[in-house]
Amino acid sequence: MYNIKKITENLFWVGANDRRIALFEGVYHAPQGVSYNSYILLDNKTVLLDTVDKAVTHQFMENVAHVLDGRKLDYLIINHMEPDHCAEIPTILAKYPEVKIVCNTKIKTMMEQFFDFELSEEQFQIVNEGDVLNTGKHNLTFLMAPMVHWPEVMVTYDATDKILFSADAFGSFGAIDGNIFADEVNWENRYLNEARRYYTNIVGKYGPQVQMLLKKVSSIEVNMICPLHGYVWRKDLDKFIDLYQKWSTYTPEINSVMIAYASVYGGTQNAAEILAGELAELGVKDIKMFDVSVTHSSYVVSDMFKYSHIVFASTTYNNGIFVEMENLIHDIVAHNIQNRKVAVIENGSWAPQAGRLMTELLSQIKNTEFITSGVSIKSAVKSEKREELKNLAKAIVESM
Ligand code: FEO
Repeated sequence: MYNIKKITENLFWVGANDRRIALFEGVYHAPQGVSYNSYILLDNKTVLLDTVDKAVTHQFMENVAHVLDGRKLDYLIINHMEPDHCAEIPTILAKYPEVKIVCNTKIKTMMEQFFDFELSEEQFQIVNEGDVLNTGKHNLTFLMAPMVHWPEVMVTYDATDKILFSADAFGSFGAIDGNIFADEVNWENRYLNEARRYYTNIVGKYGPQVQMLLKKVSSIEVNMICPLHGYVWRKDLDKFIDLYQKWSTYTPEINSVMIAYASVYGGTQNAAEILAGELAELGVKDIKMFDVSVTHSSYVVSDMFKYSHIVFASTTYNNGIFVEMENLIHDIVAHNIQNRKVAVIENGSWAPQAGRLMTELLSQIKNTEFITSGVSIKSAVKSEKREELKNLAKAIVESM
């Protein structure tokens, strides 16, 4: 049975939720599920904006048929060719064979890579930056947004109703629980962390490209944002746009300390806990700690975008960095995080190496400032090392 949501008099959400997804993109846990958003505009012409993941085909096709209510589908706009949004192009073509696909040349090329169907050139309407599609009352303008999150991405702006169909931008992990608008839920409590984790892990590497999109968005009047995942924004848009400004310029949200540690028998954890306690004694608020053997790196990467000061504490393992910590730091470097103040703590019972090796890897982060040369412990924290941890806490606070 159909399950649609009315957004305006003639715009409808026809997407679907997946709350059983094991790993988004084969990597990311999605404990709150994920929504695949697709929209239909009913004008003189009918327009479907993007499709959905193959996990929700049936619901999606029922929704599309219900909203069209017997009308033919005139246009299918494809903003992004990642399969979580384009998987149902063949199904749509099978049911609505006369539909015209509106996309840019990169999208057309990717479509030919992903699928085997053969379409005539007449079935495509290729668009470039600033091109406009008139559907009757509505004028849809296309703006290119390369690398937000793939190179072919574009966004669609309905200049008539001032609605931005933003592709992955302004998306979030988390299924849509009945409501469709972000202002109808306690978004900060329930979704901000998942929106940050979505942005930082999926798009975080491409800050300069997100900045280019934000610049384009700032030059048009936007009253509503319809992303491909998560809730639709119609109020307080600046709140989300301001977060995107911070995230895409690698500006911390808060002046506080995140500590990520890897510990085998508890000595390194003990050092991390002592440091956190000393920071708290010095007045630091909202300190965050992660055991990297327990928490997936996507959560740590996400909070690394939030916090200004980061401490990495790792035992030495196989004469190197403990594997989960090494993977985490590679992940952090790959996500292009910048402008952070960091410190390292190493442990090793006979030949501590992790500190030097972590420092080498972390030096690849642009504008990294090492607060001190770090603390090195052997097996367990002794009284003189406790003093060093206390001094590290002081140095961190002085740098805040
Ligand atoms: Fe939600 Fe880049 O796809």
